[in-house]
Amino acid sequence: MITDRSYAVEPWCVRETHLKLDVLAQSESVFALSNGHVGWRGNLDEGEPHGLPGSYLNGVHEVHPLPYAEAGYGYPESGQTVINVTNGKIMRLLVDDEPFDLRYGRLVSHERVLDLRRGVLERTCEWTSPAGSTVRVRSTRLVSLTQRAVAAVAYEVEAVDSRSRVVIQSELVANESVPEPDGDPRAAKALKSPLEPEEDVAADHRLRLVHRTKRSGLRVAVAADHTISGPERTTTSAESNVDVARLTVTSVLEPGETLRVEKLVAHGWSGVRSRPAMSDQVEAALAAAGHSGWQGLLDDQRAYLDDFWARADVEVDGDEKIQQAVRFALFHVLQAGARAEGRAIPAKGLTGSGYDGHAFWDTETFVLPLLTYTAPDSVAEALRWRQQTLPPARERATQLGLRGAAFPWRTIEGSEGSAYWPAGTAAFHVNADIADAVVRYVAATGDTGFEAETGVELLVETARLWRSLGHHDAHGVFHIDGVTGPDEYSAVADDNTYTNLMARANLLAAADVVERHPREAAALGVDEEESAAWRDAAGAVHIPYNDELRVHEQHAGFTRYQRWDFAGTRADQYPLMLHFPYFDLYRKQVVKQADLVLAMYLCGSHFEEEYDDEQVARNFAYYEPLTVRDSSLSACGQAVVAAQAGHLDLAYAYTAEAALMDLENLQQNTRDGLHIASLAGTWTALVAGFGGLRRQGDTLRFAPRLPERFSRLAFCIQVRGRRLRVEVGPDKAVYTLLSGDALTIHHHGSALTLNGDGPVARTVPPQRSRPAPEQPPHRAPRAG
Ligand code: BGC
Repeated sequence: MITDRSYAVEPWCVRETHLKLDVLAQSESVFALSNGHVGWRGNLDEGEPHGLPGSYLNGVHEVHPLPYAEAGYGYPESGQTVINVTNGKIMRLLVDDEPFDLRYGRLVSHERVLDLRRGVLERTCEWTSPAGSTVRVRSTRLVSLTQRAVAAVAYEVEAVDSRSRVVIQSELVANESVPEPDGDPRAAKALKSPLEPEEDVAADHRLRLVHRTKRSGLRVAVAADHTISGPERTTTSAESNVDVARLTVTSVLEPGETLRVEKLVAHGWSGVRSRPAMSDQVEAALAAAGHSGWQGLLDDQRAYLDDFWARADVEVDGDEKIQQAVRFALFHVLQAGARAEGRAIPAKGLTGSGYDGHAFWDTETFVLPLLTYTAPDSVAEALRWRQQTLPPARERATQLGLRGAAFPWRTIEGSEGSAYWPAGTAAFHVNADIADAVVRYVAATGDTGFEAETGVELLVETARLWRSLGHHDAHGVFHIDGVTGPDEYSAVADDNTYTNLMARANLLAAADVVERHPREAAALGVDEEESAAWRDAAGAVHIPYNDELRVHEQHAGFTRYQRWDFAGTRADQYPLMLHFPYFDLYRKQVVKQADLVLAMYLCGSHFEEEYDDEQVARNFAYYEPLTVRDSSLSACGQAVVAAQAGHLDLAYAYTAEAALMDLENLQQNTRDGLHIASLAGTWTALVAGFGGLRRQGDTLRFAPRLPERFSRLAFCIQVRGRRLRVEVGPDKAVYTLLSGDALTIHHHGSALTLNGDGPVARTVPPQRSRPAPEQPPHRAPRAG
């Protein structure tokens, strides 16, 4: 595998030491800054050259008709696509009549650094214009984690060897032209100049633009204010038209002199607020940012991140690449969720327009576990967003002839955005994934207020869905037929084991929660008969098992299918969905991404009777040669179960694949945005894989074991107001309760109570080693 490593390996930053124009779009994703509300791709300050310009506000989207060659009942009629909103990061520069454009002149040096502790993107470069003037440009950019509407840039230009006339144009630009997306031309049309102008203002050092999306009717306001420092002869002027507001700063610099512009940018959007209200909102946000000032914003950013790293850092000794990658991953996952507040966490975060900006099960199954144990408030917010979208989810269930709520497979605002039934709505497991995230969050925080206000409703409505989607057969066995599990190379199958296990947990959690919160349950119309029916269904869920092979079936009948012709499949025929018809994938034994294997990790702790370690190892050995990992979501789950099955080197290789997905562009599509689930999966692979973290009810169990490559792994977990540190070496694990009341955990099956009076060490028992199973040809893990 030829990897595309563009960044130096350092523990706390991602450094690009020279500009590579051919992979600009990829670095724009890697260097994206976001707080979950505002997202700025790492575009160059001058706006051009660019790979994909990107400024996003979480939730701002346009709608467009969805295409169907043949109509069918219940097909969603319109799709949603994230749009590029008004760009507040542009700082254009003119040096002695020549635009500072890195495609011309001579680039003496160019460095960009994403600083994971300070939460800023820094850039330094030296450039000689075609006419021979040399300037140094420095910029620092942040998207504030403490003031969610605010982003800021400090842009500085210095004359190096000759007197230079310099002009900096600080702009707000709406309706920037973006490369046409592949695929549906109707979506492309909706995205061309999606914003209609409503207001443009430029006065003194202040700029403001207000626009509205054409069909979705969302109002977007962006405003900027500037502080300028430079020689006395510096002048400014401001102007605006419908799509551009510009502050022009002009100066003449002697060698060694500097012109510096600090720009604060405030963003806001609403589907209901008026134009004057939105203008006031962004002006107020700007006033608050101005009150902090540039340095104040930097200091607050650092303090916010110091606190995060104290709770969330993962230390890896023995592998510098993984050390950097896990911090990069934690930083981006935090950015995706930190201030999303009542909005989705999309599959790409706010780092690119891939997957149309949609959120999937990626959020609940991959991203929220990490955030639950490191930044739990953001989990409550993400799940409140699901609660807010219950009305369309209930409508969808009714439309499908079901009860409760059917959450969408992919969406921005809550309605189903998938035009492909088999790998869309049929993936009903998203409902149980949401329920699982609720249960995990409440167990980890003890947040009973959340459980009453949000948890009950989500658990009840999803349990209702399962009860109506499944049925008891003549023997009383409960089946859920015709659904798609995580593996999208099997579709509309009966009794998908992952789905059934997750639905079972969902039904039981709902039955339990209504007992704890009878008032809320009564308000939702739940009676004893209904919750008893949930328990009955849960107790009778069918878990398909092949007695001859002694393995669980991914779905009923799966192990009877013909095996995919792996030997006859060339390396360049992956991903399979782009080279083979779905009908053929659906009827063969071939697995796109961990499905049964993921079930063993996610459901293993609730249903231990299904899976002892021997069974885990047998199942893993069966599915591994069938799993092609055509989805970036696969490697982390395989890492966790490989570790449990005793294949620590293989677990390491999968961890590396998840960790380096974007830093090494392993799927060749980082340009469209980061793989947030895979990044989050890096944490999962380390903490649940080598740390062996599992949750059983409210109790955390650890079964740590390191691969040879690591000499030490340390991580922190926030649980019920306590902070626990786990440090693992080759032979022993040390548990330290850093704060909070006594806590009982398990170490390799033995209970251990921590009282906060110092570290407690336990030996790591030897593990039975088994030969690691092989992957299909050409599909061995891709990094390491
Ligand atoms: C995967 C899904 C995932 C989606 C978004 C697909 O390729 O198969 O499981 O939700 O990507 O990341």
